[in-house]
Amino acid sequence: MTKKRFAKQSEVIMTEMVLPNDTNTLNNLMGGKLMHWMDVVAAIAAQKHSTRIVVTASADSISFKHPIALGNVVTLKAKVTRAFNSSMEVFIEVFAEDIPASKKITTHRAFFTFVAVDQGGRPIEVPEVEPETEEEIELYEGALRRRQLRLVLAKRMDPKDAIELKSIFNLDDKKEEI
Ligand SMILES: CC(C)(COP(=O)(O)OP(=O)(O)OC[C@H]1O[C@@H](n2cnc3c(N)ncnc32)[C@H](O)[C@@H]1OP(=O)(O)O)[C@@H](O)C(=O)NCCC(=O)NCCS
Repeated sequence: MTKKRFAKQSEVIMTEMVLPNDTNTLNNLMGGKLMHWMDVVAAIAAQKHSTRIVVTASADSISFKHPIALGNVVTLKAKVTRAFNSSMEVFIEVFAEDIPASKKITTHRAFFTFVAVDQGGRPIEVPEVEPETEEEIELYEGALRRRQLRLVLAKRMDPKDAIELKSIFNLDDKKEEI
């Protein structure tokens, strides 16, 4: 296994401004444009961690709670939370700022998964992540559970093997109770 890398080494901060071409008919940012920015910032974080070509394997559910208005400044922060064999989970946070009104809100949080590949598109091994801060440790610890959930949903893992997931729902205990 290649040498570990600190989570902070993969951090990327990207700033964009919502321009007329990015908006819907209500003058709010189009969801697809935001997902594009999220994909780009997260891919750069995964590249920084792995120093490899990366491809998007999955994007966990993204909900659009707060609209982002025309003219807002959008900041996207991305960091690798944990690496497995060839895949890496990336945490993305999105903030929208109305600078003249001095208002800044967190609008989205999401997890994307990237896979490092060679020139032929075959998955290759990536370094492990070394979390340092309290937040990085919490994200690192939750990553295994989230990986199992997304692999079960993608029918790439048998739910019976999702040990970490089962432990949070206490499924075995419930079966015994029934
Ligand atoms: C992602 C991809 C490289 C996986 O290739 P594969 O032949 O299925 O390889 P494997 O089964 O060995 O899986 C490789 C890794 O991908 C992960 N993976 C595959 N599908 C996944 C999914 N839906 N969600 C999360 N992780 C996934 C596996 O868990 C594995 O991780 P690990 O090595 O850390 O254990 C391949 O499916 C691909 O190239 N997809 C297209 C990527 C792309 O074009 N993205 C742009 C968006 S359209």
